[in-house]
Amino acid sequence: MQTKYFEFTSCDAPEFLDAARALREGLLVAFPTETVYGLGANALDRKAVQSIYEAKGRPGDNPLIVHIADLEMLKPLVTEIKPDALKLISAYWPGPLTIIMKKTAVVPDITTGGLDTVAVRMPDNHIALELIRRAGVPVAAPSANRSGRPSPTMTKHVLEDLNGRISYIIDGGPCKVGVESTVIDMTVEPAVILRPGGITPLMIKQVIGSVELDRSIVDRIAVDRPKSPGMKYKHYAPKAEVFVVSGDYGSIVNWLNKAVSEDRKAGIKSVILAAKEHIQEYGLSDAMSYGSINDASEVASNIFRLFRECDRIGAEKIYVEAIPKEGIGLAVMNRIEKAAGGRIIQAFD
Ligand code: TXA
Ligand code: MG
Repeated sequence: MQTKYFEFTSCDAPEFLDAARALREGLLVAFPTETVYGLGANALDRKAVQSIYEAKGRPGDNPLIVHIADLEMLKPLVTEIKPDALKLISAYWPGPLTIIMKKTAVVPDITTGGLDTVAVRMPDNHIALELIRRAGVPVAAPSANRSGRPSPTMTKHVLEDLNGRISYIIDGGPCKVGVESTVIDMTVEPAVILRPGGITPLMIKQVIGSVELDRSIVDRIAVDRPKSPGMKYKHYAPKAEVFVVSGDYGSIVNWLNKAVSEDRKAGIKSVILAAKEHIQEYGLSDAMSYGSINDASEVASNIFRLFRECDRIGAEKIYVEAIPKEGIGLAVMNRIEKAAGGRIIQAFD
């Protein structure tokens, strides 16, 4: 299959209109959102949705998020919009918040991995919104990476994973947020966050009073039957082995310098992903900066790109300095810990 790639110029450009029509008619179109690039298909078209699973190599029981451009598009998809869900919608849509509600028969089972609920979000990106509007259908879109790879925050990542497997790639520049949306289950009481993301637990509490975090986020352990099926798969992982290293400044720096020098002796290529405040403590060729230790949003927007960069230079081990699990830092550490599997190190002096 020939993948047509183009840079977005205007909503009336012929290639944009072609892509929107192709999307409606059942083809796959990768498009920018504020979080990561999405791989879109007509959410109401079983065959189109099936081809998402094929292009990504994604297990069929992992449900997709349905993207909409306005509230009129939401109504046919869900049995009801509870008052608290409506409050969150008013506060945070368009934005990086995915809300799980009970689905109607309009949504095919394949879109929701057989569940009786559907995950819906309105992305905060004008290209995405206009594409959905012009397609005139709700758009099922997982992140536009091959299953198990880090999510794409630039079109070159989408090309790496999906060139030749999908019909269109629309380039809208790098994604602002950099980690995927928060997923919240509003079918239960109290509501539960299944995946942390750009909208933080505090931001949710401010609007609906209370919210819980799913065990898989808090305990870090693999739960047998997670509520969000996607959370059970190895995710976000570069090819290298990832290690998370936490501790105080001095201990981290000592531990990492020792680890890297031992790796070098053993002929292992390792890379440190470090705070820019620490970078001068490491050898020039050993470390890359993910941004400021005091700015989790900066780390969010860099982390997946850096994972892919480490792959490109052939890193066999990646050591990541932990950041505080505050604000969007919770989502960033969730993705890093998933990439690390159980490889979490506490550095002591
Ligand atoms: O930011 C995002 O959410 C991006 C962009 C493209 O919008 N999309 C994204 O999709 O991250 P994906 O497919 O990579 O992740 C969807 C997550 C998975 O963990 C999945 O299991 C969960 O949402 N999910 C979807 N529908 C669900 C449902 N009905 N119940 C529970 N979890 C659901
Ligand atoms: Mg994904």
